[in-house]
Amino acid sequence: MAGTGNVSVMNFLNEVAENYPAAISLAAGRPGKQLFESIDAESVSRWMTTFSRQAPVSNLWQYGRTAGIIHELIARQISRDDGVPTAGDRTVVTTGCQEALTLCLPQLCPEMGDVVLVRNPTYIGITGAAAATAVEVHALDNTIVGIEAQIEKAIEQLATEKRRARAIYLVPDFDNPTGEVLSLEERKTILTACARHHLVVLEDNPYGMYRYEGDIIPPMAKLDEVGCVIYLSTYSKTIAPAVRIGAATLPETLFGNRTMRIALFDAIVERKSFVTVNTSPLCQAMVGGLLMERDCSLRDWLRPAVDACRRNRDAMLAQLAKCFPANGVPVCWNHPKGGFFLCLDVPLRFDAQAVTECATQEGVIVMPMAFFSFDATQDHRIRLAFSATEPERIHAGIMALSRFIGRRCGFTGQAHMRLQSPS
Ligand SMILES: Cc1ncc(COP(=O)(O)O)c(C=O)c1O
Repeated sequence: MAGTGNVSVMNFLNEVAENYPAAISLAAGRPGKQLFESIDAESVSRWMTTFSRQAPVSNLWQYGRTAGIIHELIARQISRDDGVPTAGDRTVVTTGCQEALTLCLPQLCPEMGDVVLVRNPTYIGITGAAAATAVEVHALDNTIVGIEAQIEKAIEQLATEKRRARAIYLVPDFDNPTGEVLSLEERKTILTACARHHLVVLEDNPYGMYRYEGDIIPPMAKLDEVGCVIYLSTYSKTIAPAVRIGAATLPETLFGNRTMRIALFDAIVERKSFVTVNTSPLCQAMVGGLLMERDCSLRDWLRPAVDACRRNRDAMLAQLAKCFPANGVPVCWNHPKGGFFLCLDVPLRFDAQAVTECATQEGVIVMPMAFFSFDATQDHRIRLAFSATEPERIHAGIMALSRFIGRRCGFTGQAHMRLQSPS
């Protein structure tokens, strides 16, 4: 299933979850209930009233403006919360980030041989959007040190095949699936390489506000001096996935050319008019009213969800440290400073069959990293989601997973053979 990265993966996981309804899932990258448990019919109605009283829209029940009706509010929220300089007239409201990907990709890669670069492993939403729009994906070579070097190699290799990289998709903050962050230096060197090769960055930032420790690193869109970053945002992790509202914000100029940026914006909006016509004005009004009430900042609103997620992450890290030395299996994992996921390296091939066996024998469902990958480099890794599972179930789930891995690897539980300490 490696590299298919989309529908088949989701179907497979849904099937496993249906077949084992009592199993503990550490597979799904969903927000925890703390995100939306305070939302009730009264607040929804108040937000919609707030929005329709103040916003210049005549009828929320009608078709609406294709590029959206809360573009100004979203632009303000992005600049307040993420520090990205934006403006409503270059922000298109989309039906989740997934639609933004689906609209941008074919516009950035319109010709045969045009390619979008992705990391390996990468988020299945980008491979899915590329498949849906017949855009070719090229995975960076993760055996080379440094993303800039990986980009240079990819560009060189594609040129020999008469293909051309037009864009690169990145989740710089708390990546899905790895939980990793791109450092400030990496962001800057990638931007320099992108400027050199006229490569557009699709910066996807759903998890940026879920930071549990360490200093905020500016988004690439904030560091962008040449006009190469399209900033993708979503309210799926900051309000609720059900609102299905996201946005794509284009830079002021595209590589210094304002006319080109306007043409790209218009083309994206035109494509949207063919795909979803417009994003539901009702859902936009709901989000718009909430943004108005909070002066276009969701940082305070998000605090309970971020606190719960931090607590879950800590519970998972503590339980990993407890279980794996105890059973002697050489396993290591990263220590994500935010987001929803961490990455576990295990001494066995963890594939679809292992998922089913682990669910059957131990009642825990996890996600093989191979599902996000293009080759065999991720075959011995697992993505663990801590976002939506309460600490007690995380404890039980990690314990069960450690039993499964220990048994499969023939460890008896005596030795202490950790490959490396968590960093
Ligand atoms: C990297 C990434 N981008 C975007 C999204 C959200 O997509 P959407 O806004 O379509 O719900 C997710 C959710 O899982 C994600 O992990």
